[in-house]
Formats: sequence, structure tokens, C-alpha cells
Amino acid sequence: MRLSKFISLAAFIMLFAASVVAQNASAPEVRHVPIVNTPSNSGQQMYKSYCAVCHGVDGKGNGPAAPALKTSPSDLTALAQKNGGKYPSAHVASVIRGQAALPSHGSQDMPIWGPLLSSISQGHEGQVQQRTANLVAYIDTLQAK
Ligand code: HEC
Repeated sequence: MRLSKFISLAAFIMLFAASVVAQNASAPEVRHVPIVNTPSNSGQQMYKSYCAVCHGVDGKGNGPAAPALKTSPSDLTALAQKNGGKYPSAHVASVIRGQAALPSHGSQDMPIWGPLLSSISQGHEGQVQQRTANLVAYIDTLQAK
């Protein structure tokens, strides 16, 4: 299965982000590409580079890779609504780091981002925390009112 190949490769090398080639509209393929570096102070740029391929630029879960996944990417604009109106920032941070017990995160349809962010931060934990915090803050701005 194309996707499981992508995931095991991502887990093994931990240097790859997802990208999509739509050869034809009905059969998009997820392919692995080297992760590009992005400024750690721009949550928006990191989101667009690393997350939008699955979650969509608007966060609603309709990125170009979504049709190729077994599990639909979560609608990230509904996180606050689903949590009684409060944006669950600690949960989002632990999902990004790969510490939350989400069935699909890391184990199936979503790469674990902790090691990827660490690789582009040359292992500097402070910078990984900054990247995570800025991603969490950016996703907060996408919340549906
Ligand atoms: C290869 C596709 C893919 C990429 C790339 C991806 N995600 Fe996901 N993400 C998913 C899928 C699929 C789920 C649903 C997991 C589940 O339901 O178990 C998910 C779930 C989530 C959740 C959990 C939402 C909830 O309801 O608790 C968060 C938060 C999240 N992603 C954030 C991110 C961020 C931030 C990035 C970029 C750094 C990212 N994702 C990149 C596929 C992806």
C-alpha cells in the first residue's frame, strides 16, 4: 500500500515531509520529499509547508493528499468547538510532538512531527519548542468562531 510505504519510510528516515502528485484526479499519490527548512518563528509558514498538504490551507481537512489517506485528516478549525469552545493548545502541542495517544498519528496516517522538527532544528530542544508553540498558535487563528 502506497501510504504504509510512505509512513514506514518517514518513520525510518525521519527527514521527509509529505507531498502530493496528482497524476489524475481520481488517484492522487502521497510521495515523500526531503523536509524543507522554514523559519521557526512563522507558524503560518510551517503550517503551509508541513500540514496543509493533508489538513488543507484553511485547516478544514481537505488538502490535496487527503483522498489518498485511510483516515481523513482532522478538521483543525473545529478543535475549539469540539472542546466546549476552548482551543485545546496542550493537546495540539502533544499531537504535533507525537506524544498524544491518537490512533492515526504517527502510527498510521500522520507522521510524528517531533523528530522532523528536531531534525530541522539540529536537535535544539528550545527551537523545537518554539516551532511547536508557533504552530499551535497559528492553528488557534484558524478556529471557527
Ligand atoms: C500525511 C498527512 C498529514 C500531515 C502532513 C499532517 N497531518 Fe495532522 N492529521 C492527519 C490525520 C489523518 C489525522 C487524524 C488522526 C486520527 O484521527 O487519528 C490528523 C490529526 C491531527 C490533529 C488532531 C486533531 C484532533 O482532533 O485532535 C492535529 C492537532 C494535527 N493533525 C495537526 C497537524 C499539524 C500541526 C501538522 C503539520 C505539522 C499536521 N497535522 C500534518 C494527517 C496529517
